[in-house]
Amino acid sequence: MRNLTDIIIAENLTKSYGNRKAVDNLTLHILAGEFFGFLGPNGAGKTTTIRMLTGILKPDQGEIVIDQHILSRHKKEVSQIIGVKPESRGLYDWMTTAEYLSFFARLYGIGEDRLEEHVDIHLSQVGLLDRKHSKIGTFSLGMRQRLGLARTLINDPKILFLDEPTLGLDPQGQVDVQQLLKKLNRQGVTIFLSSHLLNEISNLCTRIGIIDKGKLIVEGNIDDLEKKPEFQDKTLTQIFLQLTHKGDE
Ligand SMILES: Nc1ncnc2c1ncn2[C@@H]1O[C@H](COP(=O)(O)OP(=O)(O)OP(=O)(O)O)[C@@H](O)[C@H]1O
Ligand SMILES: [Mg+2]
Repeated sequence: MRNLTDIIIAENLTKSYGNRKAVDNLTLHILAGEFFGFLGPNGAGKTTTIRMLTGILKPDQGEIVIDQHILSRHKKEVSQIIGVKPESRGLYDWMTTAEYLSFFARLYGIGEDRLEEHVDIHLSQVGLLDRKHSKIGTFSLGMRQRLGLARTLINDPKILFLDEPTLGLDPQGQVDVQQLLKKLNRQGVTIFLSSHLLNEISNLCTRIGIIDKGKLIVEGNIDDLEKKPEFQDKTLTQIFLQLTHKGDE
């Protein structure tokens, strides 16, 4: 069931690196239970936005409220209820998958008595249970992505922020991760997903936002967008290209 309240609120976020504005006065509201797709060309400001929404990067201006907590004042509370899958992965090659996940589970206060079971459940969720004792250094990119996802889910988050979670996965791996995300969303997890795979976005997401040059240029239901007269009979890819190529000529 959908709970119709805003679980992610970003008001007028701005972030510059030097004198380059990476995110420019961005306002976004995400409902609890929503599967939100965040799109934009390379360098548009997606990762910067996600880093601000998850408390990794401090905005120059603007305010963020996550599940009723003002992020700048309640980082700790927010970190307990969110899962963040960063674009780049800092995995520890010398550890086994079980050691790696146990480390993060302990950080979230999972007790020793239920640690192994907790880790096993999360490994099996991403199809890595049979690699429990393998060293991460021996993993392929796709396996690292899955393990990164297991780490993201280790605190059973209420809200998931995923920056290109299927990057580098083979087709089966992409489908597996997408199915897992669908299932989590059905269970009530709010998902904020950035991806360049427009098929993935249109299969998974109910609502999307498109960012270009740091500004949010479109926000809405995919179905409603596709019904607009200017986008009639266009696929999400065509709509995306039409919007983000404006003014490039
Ligand atoms: N640490 C940084 N230092 C300086 N500039 C940065 C930094 N991180 C991002 N930028 C700049 O900010 C802008 C937005 O980058 P960002 O990584 O948020 O884009 P993105 O939408 O995630 O792109 P991609 O699709 O390629 O991942 C770009 O112009 C980028 O060069
Ligand atoms: Mg990025």
